[in-house]
Amino acid sequence: MTSENPSTELLHELVLLASRSPSPHNTQPWSPRIVDGGIEVSIVPGRTLPAGDPTFRDVIMSLGAWIESVAIGAAEAGYAIDVEVLPALSELDSLPISGPADSTRPVFRVTLSLAATPEDASANASDLRPFTAADVRERRVYRGKLVGRPEVFSQLDSLQLPPWLSVRSLDDRAMQQLSTLGIAFTASRATVANELLHWLRLDPRHPRYTRDGMTDAMLVMPKALVRIAAPFTRRARLRDPLVAVAGPLARFFEGLGRDASLSSSTVDEVGAPTHHVLVANSRAAGIDDILSVTEAMDSRIGVTEPHALEAGRVLQRLWLHAHRQGIAISPHSEVIDSPAAHGALRKRLGLARSDVALSVFSAGVAQTRRVPRSPRLTDPSAQ
Ligand SMILES: Cc1cc2nc3c(=O)[nH]c(=O)nc-3n(C[C@H](O)[C@H](O)[C@H](O)COP(=O)(O)O)c2cc1C
Repeated sequence: MTSENPSTELLHELVLLASRSPSPHNTQPWSPRIVDGGIEVSIVPGRTLPAGDPTFRDVIMSLGAWIESVAIGAAEAGYAIDVEVLPALSELDSLPISGPADSTRPVFRVTLSLAATPEDASANASDLRPFTAADVRERRVYRGKLVGRPEVFSQLDSLQLPPWLSVRSLDDRAMQQLSTLGIAFTASRATVANELLHWLRLDPRHPRYTRDGMTDAMLVMPKALVRIAAPFTRRARLRDPLVAVAGPLARFFEGLGRDASLSSSTVDEVGAPTHHVLVANSRAAGIDDILSVTEAMDSRIGVTEPHALEAGRVLQRLWLHAHRQGIAISPHSEVIDSPAAHGALRKRLGLARSDVALSVFSAGVAQTRRVPRSPRLTDPSAQ
């Protein structure tokens, strides 16, 4: 029999499960604490990306994915969750640039209550056929070759998206151009490129190889390239000159890409991966009274932080939905981060002023049987 209050063991299990959630550069920016029968989560400043994610969009979305993972695990144990968003979530600009989490300033609190029926519990996981903890554990992104299955995101009813969120499709040619433009942006900004190199672990001898960041295996990098690139990720003495040389070169390519117009053909070749954009409409989200407009503008994401958190929950559902169908996801935040790529994306999709692109990702069948698993701070090998 399930008891009224969740046991501390269950809460620990849920924290462990949620650690498998996706996060930008695998930073795992969450710091959960079990208090008063619930879980409070603070953000670890040293696990945010001040250069690459200055608005905290990706950090907040990953916290949303974390909440969804807890909801799925809790539902399986017969509990529904309640999320209380705390004021600190809207005050992230006052976070220090680095250092540990401040447990006195949690950004949200999750409490569990016994679900009246199994359907009540799964309503929180928001799927008629609820996702399972095994799905959360097994899901992973894949950055190698993908072969598309265009129907995967055509039927989203079972995922119960809120009315202010939609998934738009982007054609393959445009995606390739926009991603190149985005990558040129990353390489041309020294602070963004340095931050990315800091989170790369291309050599198993890297002290954090089994804990966090992105490994050579996860990035599906050819061995020869890994051998050349690995020393640059470990030694600042080598990294700084590389970034200095790459910057002007990338800026040159960025200039070329910015001036080129997007391909006029929007018909994909057979087998091309499909590409998707999670779009929030701030008007439909009710962000049109003066107070919430101001809050949304303050957040710099274009929607309020609680909305971005909710969008992160949906993003996790979308990625799990793909996983259940044997489809791998490859995210492309660079398309939103680069102002040039972002502008071209908005034009291609015909986005209105009130539309905010929150996530761009490709989907398809991975051309390998072994999609690499990324490390976590909670893995036994990381201890
Ligand atoms: C909000 C968000 C944005 C992300 N953006 C990118 C991206 O631009 N490029 C990329 O390769 N991976 C991106 N990722 C995926 C993470 O790098 C990945 O989740 C992390 O490395 C852990 O790996 P896993 O998802 O396979 O467990 C993103 C993840 C999240 C949650």
